[in-house]
Formats: sequence, C-alpha cells, structure tokens
Amino acid sequence: MSIYGKYGDTMCAIMQQLVQTMQAYNREREEATGKKVFEHLRYRIKSDENTKAKLEKTGCEISTYHALRSITDSIGLRVVCLFIDDVYQMAAWLKTLPGCALVREKDYIRNAKPNGYRSYHLILDVTAPAEDPDGHVPGHFFVEVQLRTIAMDTWAALEHELKYKKNIANQQLIVSQLHRCANELAACDVSMQTLRNIIREEGGEQ
Ligand code: GTP
Ligand code: MG
Repeated sequence: MSIYGKYGDTMCAIMQQLVQTMQAYNREREEATGKKVFEHLRYRIKSDENTKAKLEKTGCEISTYHALRSITDSIGLRVVCLFIDDVYQMAAWLKTLPGCALVREKDYIRNAKPNGYRSYHLILDVTAPAEDPDGHVPGHFFVEVQLRTIAMDTWAALEHELKYKKNIANQQLIVSQLHRCANELAACDVSMQTLRNIIREEGGEQ
C-alpha cells in the first residue's frame, strides 16, 4: 500500500484536473492572443520514498495523515514560461481559480534564494468531492505549483543534477560559480522581457 493510502486516487484526479484546466487556459490564450502563457507543464505525485525521507527529515511520524498534512508538495506542478511577465500572469490567474485557495506564496524571483534559485511558488488548498485525511467531504488537499521561466528552470535542473557534497575543498568556488550562472541567466530573462516590451510598444506584436 502506498503512503497515500486510500487518498492516492483522489490526489491523481486533483492533479489531472489542474493540468487540464491549465492546458485549456493556455489554448484559450493562444487562440485569443496568438501567444501561449506557458511553454510547458510538468507534474508528479511525490514518490513514497521521497515522501518518507522528507517526513523523517522533518521529524514527522511516517503516516498517510502526515504525508498529506505536514507535507504540502505531495502533489506538485511545475509551469515553465518563456517570459517573466508570463510567470506573474499565471500566478495571478491561479489565484482566481474556483476551489483553489491560496495557502502560501513565495516570490523567489524578486527575492532569489541565497544560492541564486529563482521561481514563484504557490501552495494551494484544493477542494475535491472526496474525503480527505481529516474525514471532511468535500476534502482539502495541498498542491504546490512552481512557476518559472525556461532560464530559471535550466539553472534549477543543472544545480539539482550537480548535487555536490557540502564541505569539500572547492565548495566556495562551486557556490559562487553557481550563483554567477544564476545571475547571468536572470539578466538574460530581464533583457528578453525588455525586448518583448519594446516590440509590443512599437506594435510589432509579441
Ligand atoms: P522543501 O525544500 O520542499 O523542503 O520545502 P520548503 O518549505 O523549503 O520550500 P521551498 O519553497 O524552499 O522549496 C520547495 C521546492 O522548490 C523544492 O522541493 C525544490 O523543488 C525547489 N527548490 C527550492 N530551492 C531550490 C534550490 O536551491 N535548487 C533547486 N534546484 N530547487 C529548489
Ligand atoms: Mg527548501
């Protein structure tokens, strides 16, 4: 049995529903404006192994209840946009969705993490027509949505892949170079956004 117990199916249904809603919105926007608001979308239910490891790390009891109540990213969606403005547009739209209440948001774009990580994170409380771990119907389930540009996604993927050991001789060098790369990519994002704005102002579409 999975750590999510009898809630696994509901979690999948919630995730699929959100994916469909987002894809439909992207199509609508493309039809209306000729431009997609996001480039692509990824999603996952956190694996049992990772959920158990996270519960252990945070000192929580390893149970279905805590997997759904102490962890807020068991259901995760990652929306990758072309431009910074699109990220904020998607965030604003998500906050208007019926049945989705905002629990927490972190703007790691305006306030990048010290290592250079950038993204916009939303934790949503999604209502579903099924029982939740508190026994409530309709039920409430947490969903984490990460919104970022392709450049931010590139950096996060590479940094994640490097997963270097801490406390090694070259640590300072690695940290500072990763930070420099993050800043260079962020500068590109700002330049691309500026170019898009200029093209728009001149009536050259975009
Ligand atoms: P966890 O990091 O998930 O324990 O929760 P938190 O409360 O610290 O949330 P935070 O918003 O900091 O990060 C949540 C998620 O964002 C992580 O699980 C990663 O997917 C992503 N993330 C945050 N920081 C980094 C980072 O430095 N590098 C990369 N590659 N991803 C990050
Ligand atoms: Mg973290």
